Amino acid sequence: MNILYIGDIMGELGMQTVEKLLPEIRRDHNVDVVIAQAENTTDGKGISLADFARLRKMGIDFCTGGNWSLHKEEIIQAMNDPVQPIIRPANYLEGTPGLGYKYLKTIKGDILVVSLLGQVVGRDSAKPMNNPLITIDDILQSQKDVAKIATVVNFHGDYSSEKFVIGRYLDGRAALVVGDHWHVPTADAMVLPGGTAHITDVGMCGSIDSCLGVKFEVIIGRWKTGQASRNQLEEAGRLQFNAILVDVDVATGKAQGVEHIRRIVG
Ligand SMILES: [Fe+2]
Repeated sequence: MNILYIGDIMGELGMQTVEKLLPEIRRDHNVDVVIAQAENTTDGKGISLADFARLRKMGIDFCTGGNWSLHKEEIIQAMNDPVQPIIRPANYLEGTPGLGYKYLKTIKGDILVVSLLGQVVGRDSAKPMNNPLITIDDILQSQKDVAKIATVVNFHGDYSSEKFVIGRYLDGRAALVVGDHWHVPTADAMVLPGGTAHITDVGMCGSIDSCLGVKFEVIIGRWKTGQASRNQLEEAGRLQFNAILVDVDVATGKAQGVEHIRRIVG
């Protein structure tokens, strides 16, 4: 089974990138299921119900989460509903709205999808959260008797070491462990010795001639003067698409191959 995981879809240009490229990538690589990082979809911060519907319409079967997942209140009901294919990080403290893992139903069987937040994520670093390693151990233990064909773990964070080490930590316990949040892809996609596909960071979808999706002049101005300013997303120019494709043996739940897919268009 071929699972495609698409990196952070950043704003309107991110959505246009996926709309434009997903049909041919899907066809060329015999993709069975598409999972995508949706925390930056609506103007870079969170996801609206309308954009959630738009992602579903363009062929995305399941949305993972990160530090902006709960920014828009209107999405919380869907985050709470086990049937709606969208999650927020699982290691938020108890009482936080939304679910951190759900099952994605496919014709070949169910896939457990989990999102975790790293312990260093930009301005959210001081925010209390549970240890991601202990959280994922608890989830995998609680779900061990539930029938599934694969487990996909998304790790959303800033520390390269955290996003690198989590792959080894979960090697043999998941089909894919995929890092994101940086918006810059790393060149280390591989199947680890225990059969888990891993990449430290998959990269983003959206503007490539920008600072990770935001207009350069806004970021450089802020950097030079120290003055606070609002992020303005880039609205034109070339587009980048970044995803990771994993070939999973559904009999064992292990990866048989992995490929980082990167396209630049426009
Ligand atoms: Fe993020």
